[in-house]
Amino acid sequence: MAKVLIIGAGGVGQVVAHKCAQASDVFTDICLASRNIEKCIKIAGQIKRPIETFQVDAEKTEELTALIERCRPDVVINVALPYQDLTIMDACLAAEVNYLDTANYEPRDEARFSYSWQWNYHDRFRGKGLMALLGSGFDPGVTNVFTAWALRHQFDQIDELDIIDCNAGDHGRPFATNFNPEINIREVTAKGRYYENGQWKETEPLSVKMEFDFPEGIGRKRLYLLFHEELESLVKHIPSIKKARFWMTFSDNYLKHLEVLQNVGMTRIDPVKYKGVDIVPLQFLKVLLPDPASLGPLTRGKTCIGCLIRGVKEGKVKTIYIYNVCDHRSCYEEVGSQAISYTTGVPAMIGAMLMVTGVWREKGVFNMEQMDPDPFMDKLMVYGLPWHVKTL
Ligand SMILES: NC(=O)c1ccc[n+]([C@@H]2O[C@H](COP(=O)([O-])OP(=O)(O)OC[C@H]3O[C@@H](n4cnc5c(N)ncnc54)[C@H](OP(=O)(O)O)[C@@H]3O)[C@@H](O)[C@H]2O)c1
Repeated sequence: MAKVLIIGAGGVGQVVAHKCAQASDVFTDICLASRNIEKCIKIAGQIKRPIETFQVDAEKTEELTALIERCRPDVVINVALPYQDLTIMDACLAAEVNYLDTANYEPRDEARFSYSWQWNYHDRFRGKGLMALLGSGFDPGVTNVFTAWALRHQFDQIDELDIIDCNAGDHGRPFATNFNPEINIREVTAKGRYYENGQWKETEPLSVKMEFDFPEGIGRKRLYLLFHEELESLVKHIPSIKKARFWMTFSDNYLKHLEVLQNVGMTRIDPVKYKGVDIVPLQFLKVLLPDPASLGPLTRGKTCIGCLIRGVKEGKVKTIYIYNVCDHRSCYEEVGSQAISYTTGVPAMIGAMLMVTGVWREKGVFNMEQMDPDPFMDKLMVYGLPWHVKTL
């Protein structure tokens, strides 16, 4: 029925390929392209259905446009890196194909997170009758849909939102990141930012903490305030929100290593000269660190990502907690990846499925909370990310 072109054969790309292959009634043809075709071939080799593989540099718009025109997919799923978002959107416009991603565009030389660059494409996508869906991972992605669903079914008005991301898994390696190390470390070492009463407030990196008692045996964990991109779109599209924050857990071990790496300059993103050659320390560090895809067989434990939402229903103040718990080991057994890649790849497949089946069909550039949350919430239950709601 539909053809999909997946760009990026990393940890998340592997899950998207597996999940699209599982949904054979919708995705009848699957293409997988990445900078390094060997990674595509390896993933295709894990899947019983045929997957067409291609080499492409997604930063070269013409090269990518030619590939899209050759494959003629109904949707392009971008699970390469945020640096490629704009060139992939350009290629989708040129080849007249719908677009989906899981992370907002970032310029390479500046750790700045903003949807503005991609929102600027709205008129071009609308003009061509195409849809671009931004941030269809877990956070952003499912967290946006959780909030939209809560507004529809649980509240008359949402006042406060805390997005809470806990990875209680252990991979046994001294230091590793659970998704692309460069993107992860840029995010974590940036200044914190949250929204309150119409203003953005900045905090020093990892300086604001709280504790939360997680369900399903995970227990109490310390969380750190970070800026995360879905805060920007959620306060725009749900203007009643007065306070919005994002929190993430880190182990003491992770923070100890990160502090040392920062202190010695290994997380810098500006080039330094080494033997006459320009080297970006963080890009060099990425080469040394474990590939997140290699953590799959090692990781044990669970993730728990969700939204704590306060608001008003029929005149009464109310708080709910809506969340998913995902087990690293079960993900590995199903698709050969750990839960961080899994919780990102499953929503990417579901977003694409709703687009190609016409359930989510708009013209222009959209964030997840702008779409009907109900069919997406139903599909989470079917495709491996069951969710729960507690009234607190
Ligand atoms: N929303 C969420 O919940 C969420 C959570 C986690 C991650 N993410 C996002 O998901 C995306 C993928 O993450 P990941 O952990 O899978 O990263 P990853 O393992 O590093 O995979 C990225 C893939 O993209 C490929 N790539 C990089 N530059 C390319 C280019 N110019 N042309 C073609 N392919 C290129 C890489 O190729 P090489 O193998 O040659 O390097 C690699 O295969 C990232 O954007 C990340 O921010 C979103």
